[in-house]
Amino acid sequence: MNKISVLFVCLGNICRSPTAHAVFQSMVDSRGLGAKILVDSAGTGDWHLGHAPDQRTSAQAAERGYDMSELRARLVEPKDFAQFDYIIGMDHENISNLMLMRPEDFKGQVELFLSFARKPENRDQAVVPDPYYGGDNGFALVLDLVEDAAAGLLDHMVAQLEQGSQ
Ligand code: 4NP
Repeated sequence: MNKISVLFVCLGNICRSPTAHAVFQSMVDSRGLGAKILVDSAGTGDWHLGHAPDQRTSAQAAERGYDMSELRARLVEPKDFAQFDYIIGMDHENISNLMLMRPEDFKGQVELFLSFARKPENRDQAVVPDPYYGGDNGFALVLDLVEDAAAGLLDHMVAQLEQGSQ
């Protein structure tokens, strides 16, 4: 294994999955792994196709130094299952939708993002709650959960890359 790809998935692709995309890409880049780990995000709902991330999401991300200006919402497509090793949902509804779309010959993994969280309380929480209809604290919580799970996912992938290079 010399390259790994990950697609983060939520409902609208304007709040949670672009946050995961930006945070994880930033961690990958700061570890010098940009050529080894491909990162993307998509949604299962089509309300916001082509839109930039929600302003509340990008404002809170910017406060922590993450740039989301290049990201645009897109749908999960059947061909994603041929291209991505990890397809990672934010909540149980995302996972159910992905399982319904998943072709029989899919060789990768569909996982809940928080299953990779480093903190046990975040693993126990299991889902990154949808912040869209809530207040600003929901967006800060998304960032807290995403930063923890992204760090755990990167540990997992680095171990996988190291195994593959032996
Ligand atoms: P996301 O949040 O799935 O984290 O991007 C949502 C964004 C938009 C909607 C729902 C959730 N919506 O219903 O438009």
